[in-house]
Amino acid sequence: MRIIELFAGIGACSKALKNIGIDLEIVDAIEIDKYAIRSFNTIHNTNFETQDIKEYNKHFNDIDIITHRFSLSGF
Ligand SMILES: C[S@@+](CC[C@H](N)C(=O)[O-])C[C@H]1O[C@@H](n2cnc3c(N)ncnc32)[C@H](O)[C@@H]1O
Repeated sequence: MRIIELFAGIGACSKALKNIGIDLEIVDAIEIDKYAIRSFNTIHNTNFETQDIKEYNKHFNDIDIITHRFSLSGF
């Protein structure tokens, strides 16, 4: 399945899906923090740069999953 992670962090959503056996192609990961995306790339063997969601305007076809988890504060 093809996935895009918004507010990607270290990619826990992709990691969880992989852990239950879903074959994932990570198409893009949108994460502004350089340390977080560095960890993401190490964990997922990818090579994404930092990106700001406010400036994001890429278009992809055939995306199966879009994750977005911007904050847990208050929950
Ligand atoms: C609660 S964390 C997400 C955790 C993530 N789901 C994970 O598995 O690690 C929210 C993330 O949003 C990122 N973020 C905040 N503002 C952003 C922006 N404007 N563009 C991209 N990412 C942003 C933060 O750096 C942070 O890593």
